[in-house]
Amino acid sequence: MTESTASQDIYLPMPATIEESKLLTAVDRFFRIRLSSGAELGHMPGQFVEVSVAGIGEAPISLSSSPDTTGVFELVVRKIGRVTDALHALPQGSPVGIRGPFGTTFPVAEALKGQDILVITGGIGLVPVRSAIQYMLNRREDYGEMAILYGTRTPADRLFTDEIEDWRARENVTYLETVDRGDEGWTGNVGVITTLLPKVEVSPVSTRVIICGPPIMYKFVIAALAARGIPLEHIYVSLERRMKCGVGKCGHCQINGYYTCLDGPVFNYAQLSDVPEAI
Ligand SMILES: Cc1cc2nc3c(=O)[nH]c(=O)nc-3n(C[C@H](O)[C@H](O)[C@H](O)COP(=O)(O)OP(=O)(O)OC[C@H]3O[C@@H](n4cnc5c(N)ncnc54)[C@H](O)[C@@H]3O)c2cc1C
Ligand code: FES
Repeated sequence: MTESTASQDIYLPMPATIEESKLLTAVDRFFRIRLSSGAELGHMPGQFVEVSVAGIGEAPISLSSSPDTTGVFELVVRKIGRVTDALHALPQGSPVGIRGPFGTTFPVAEALKGQDILVITGGIGLVPVRSAIQYMLNRREDYGEMAILYGTRTPADRLFTDEIEDWRARENVTYLETVDRGDEGWTGNVGVITTLLPKVEVSPVSTRVIICGPPIMYKFVIAALAARGIPLEHIYVSLERRMKCGVGKCGHCQINGYYTCLDGPVFNYAQLSDVPEAI
């Protein structure tokens, strides 16, 4: 991050421009965005922004680039409804509004430092997790063993395919992936993401786990980790809930007293052990 970070009224979108926009899959579009003020967004991995399209509305979207990417930040938006359809339709150079960054972060600069890292991610969950992966790879010597497990429904759903090949090629990272259903060109693992877990070493003492993926994934992954002795407080999850304001005012994102926009989206899992509806 540079010293010049965006400071703003949390309710007022900052003007910004889409510098680059490209499809990653049939429904997921990558955006590189620059704030018109020239300031850095000043985020940390795990946080999100509220992105607005004039006349349409606003949607919370995770930051996908690490704060080391200066001058711009990156998002991936899945086309699912009004705001996300409108974002997909905007040509490069279009204006958008940005509020944020909001929410909690993966503790890459604190609790994860010096530990062995296991990242478990599924589908579009790779979007926020990529920011943390980039941050840690840029400071690889600050962490112990590092493993990344990624699962998608089909090979066509894989995001950031070029970057994934870089991770796979690195000697100091274990990268494993799986798909629920292969196709004629797929020679890799087929099966749910928990089928990859026995292939990595974990330590109840030194392993710290980051999880982000579809809701169904969490229960099974956390049960498999618990069976291997990983304490709940060594697990960090990023949760998605319907949000409106993004700043703790509207109550839309509440889970049993927690505001996902303020207390999350990243939670230490031990924090949620008495909130069964969270996962
Ligand atoms: C913290 C956070 C981070 C997010 N990060 C990303 C991201 O990086 N990339 C991305 O593509 N999306 C992300 N999302 C989800 C994104 O915010 C929603 O897809 C978006 O708000 C939908 O807006 P819309 O106007 O296009 O859809 P709408 O027209 O409002 O809804 C279309 C359909 O999608 C359903 N829907 C809308 N929002 C959600 C939701 N949050 N969960 C489940 N169903 C929903 C609606 O019920 C409806 O069926 C994130 C959400 C949160 C809370
Ligand atoms: S989104 Fe409004 S309180 Fe969290």
